[in-house]
Amino acid sequence: MDDGADLVTELHKSKKNIEKIIGGTEETTTGVVRLRSMAREGVLMYPIIAVNDASTKHFFDNRYGTGQSTLDGIIRATNLLIAGRTFVVCGYGWCGRGIAMRAKGFGANVVICEVNPLYALEAVMDGYNVMKISEAAKVGDIFITATGDINVLRREHFALMKDGVILANSGHFNVEISLPDLDSLAISKKEIRENVEEYKLQNGKRLYLLGEGRLVNLACAEGHPASVMDMSFANQALCVEHLVRHAKELSPQVYGVPKDIDEQVARLKLASMGITIDKLTAEQAKYITSWEEGT
Ligand SMILES: NC(=O)c1ccc[n+]([C@@H]2O[C@H](COP(=O)([O-])OP(=O)(O)OC[C@H]3O[C@@H](n4cnc5c(N)ncnc54)[C@H](O)[C@@H]3O)[C@@H](O)[C@H]2O)c1
Repeated sequence: MDDGADLVTELHKSKKNIEKIIGGTEETTTGVVRLRSMAREGVLMYPIIAVNDASTKHFFDNRYGTGQSTLDGIIRATNLLIAGRTFVVCGYGWCGRGIAMRAKGFGANVVICEVNPLYALEAVMDGYNVMKISEAAKVGDIFITATGDINVLRREHFALMKDGVILANSGHFNVEISLPDLDSLAISKKEIRENVEEYKLQNGKRLYLLGEGRLVNLACAEGHPASVMDMSFANQALCVEHLVRHAKELSPQVYGVPKDIDEQVARLKLASMGITIDKLTAEQAKYITSWEEGT
C-alpha cells in the first residue's frame, strides 16, 4: 500500500525483493499519475490498483476530507477570521473544490485559478470568480494550492501580492509554492508563531507561509477525520484482498477499483451511518434499462 508512489519508486530503484511482490495499491492522485507514467514507459513491475480513482475515495476523502482539514490547518495556524477575505484556490480538482466549498461556507470571497477549461467552467457555474493566478495575486488575502503541480505560485506572483497575505499548500509535497523563489525574493525570514513564517520581500511586503509549504492539513492540523478515511482504507483493504485472489490474472498495469468494491464501500458507509435507501422495484428496473418503454 502506497501513498504518493514513494514506496513503489524506492522498490523499483532498489529492486529489493521486487519479484516477490504480487501487486500494490495507491492512495492518492499524484501517486496514480506517477504510476500511470511508469506503466506507459513499461517500467512498472507489478499490477497496482488506483484506490484514489474509486468514487468512494476521491469524492469524499479528497473533497470533504481535504476541504475540512485544510481550513482547519489554516485556522489553527493563523487564528484568522475567514469571513470577508479573498480566498484564492489554485486547482479546482477534487481537493480544490472541497477547499473552495468550505471557504465559501466560512464567508470568504472565493477565487479559483485553473488550467483545465472544463473545471474552470464548472467553477464559474458553481458561483466562484475565476481568473488567472497573476490577476488573483493582486487581490487575494489567503492562497492555497491543491494541484499536484510544481511552482504554481512563484516569483512573478509573489511580486504582485498584497502585504500580509497567507500562503499555504494542500496538494503534493512542498513544491506547489516555489520556496526557492520566496527565499531569493526575501530580505528576511522569521517564524512569527508556530507554523507561520514571515518572508519580508525586497518591495517591503510581508508574505506568511504556513507549515513550510507542506500539506497544511497535516503540518498545521491533524489531517482528515477518521470518518472519511474509513472509506479510503476500506477500499485499500478490499483491493488487497482482490489482488490476493486475482493478481495472477493481471499484468503490470494500473487498474481501477472494481465497481463492486466501490459500491460495497458506499453501502457499508451508509449502513454505518444508520441510513437506508430505496431499491428499484422490478417494474422500475425494467423501465430505466429498456429502449422500448418511455420513448
Ligand atoms: N492534503 C491532502 O490531505 C490531500 C488529500 C488528497 C489528495 N491530495 C493531493 O492534492 C493534489 C490534488 O488532488 P486532486 O484529487 O484534487 O487532483 P485533481 O487532479 O482532481 O485536481 C488537480 C487540479 O489542479 C489543476 N492544475 C494543475 N496544474 C495547475 C496549475 N499550474 N495551476 C492551476 N491549476 C492547476 C488541474 O487542472 C486539476 O483540475 C494531489 O497532489 C493529491 O495527491 C492531498
